[in-house]
Amino acid sequence: MKQRMALQGLLGLCVGIGAGQQPRVQVASKHWFTRIWSHVNFQYLGKPATVIRVPKPQPPGPQHLQVGPDFYLAGYLRECPHNGCEVRFHPSAENLLICYCHGSLFRRADGRLEAGVANEDLPGLRLALEGEQVVVVGLTSA
Ligand code: FES
Repeated sequence: MKQRMALQGLLGLCVGIGAGQQPRVQVASKHWFTRIWSHVNFQYLGKPATVIRVPKPQPPGPQHLQVGPDFYLAGYLRECPHNGCEVRFHPSAENLLICYCHGSLFRRADGRLEAGVANEDLPGLRLALEGEQVVVVGLTSA
C-alpha cells in the first residue's frame, strides 16, 4: 500500500521558469493525493522534494495549497538545513520526518523544525494548481 501512496522519482516534470527564475515543475494530478499523507517525492533544484496531502493547517503557511474544502497540500525540500543531509519520513512516527545524520525532526505537515540541532525549518515550496495539475512554482523564500 505504501508503494501506492508514494510515487518516487517518476514525476517532477519541468514545465518552465516561474517567478524569480525558479523552475516550474509539474508534480502530479490533484487526484493522486487521495488521503492524508499521500505524497509524491521528486527532485527540485537538484534536491529531494515532497508534495504531501496534510490535515487542515492552522493557519496555512506559504508552503500550503488549498485544493478543496478539506483538501490541503504542503510542499518542501527534504534537505536538512543543518548540514544538507536528506531528510526522510520517520519510520515509526507518521507525523514526522527525520534527518539521520544528527537526528533533527521536522513536522510532516509543514516541514517545520520539531527538535534537534538544525536551527531552521525545511525550505518551503510554493505550489499552484493549473487545471488538475499540482505545480511547484518556486521556493517560499524567493
Ligand atoms: S544534517 Fe540534519 S541534523 Fe545535521
